[in-house]
Amino acid sequence: MTSVHVLNGPNLNLLGRREPATYGTATLADIEQRLRERAKALAVELIFKQSNVEGELVNFIHAAGLAGAGIILNAGAYTHTSVALRDAIKAVDGLAIEVHLSNIHAREPFRHQSFIAPVAQG
Ligand code: DQA
Repeated sequence: MTSVHVLNGPNLNLLGRREPATYGTATLADIEQRLRERAKALAVELIFKQSNVEGELVNFIHAAGLAGAGIILNAGAYTHTSVALRDAIKAVDGLAIEVHLSNIHAREPFRHQSFIAPVAQG
């Protein structure tokens, strides 16, 4: 069965109450539930993880990449700062898709740069 690791970074555990005008009112558990329904219909196994700690996200990326699983990554603010997450994806030749809830290119200039995008497939 195809496996996909859905990895969420800092502050995304607070979705639902965090800046709802920007991120909506769905909680991370709501998003997980919706993804599980989609994954079930596609016969894809989902492994869902969240951490506020950069090094833990590095470990999650290694685990996914070394298992040959795809990665869907919302790295939160680490998107704009983390060479370590970028290097982790490269280190395991990870098949990674970068996602965000908001349009980072329509927000503050410091959110326009992504360290993940150059090593992501989409
Ligand atoms: C985010 C965008 C980031 O700039 C921000 O730091 C987040 C959430 C998004 O999903 O829109 O934490 O990744």
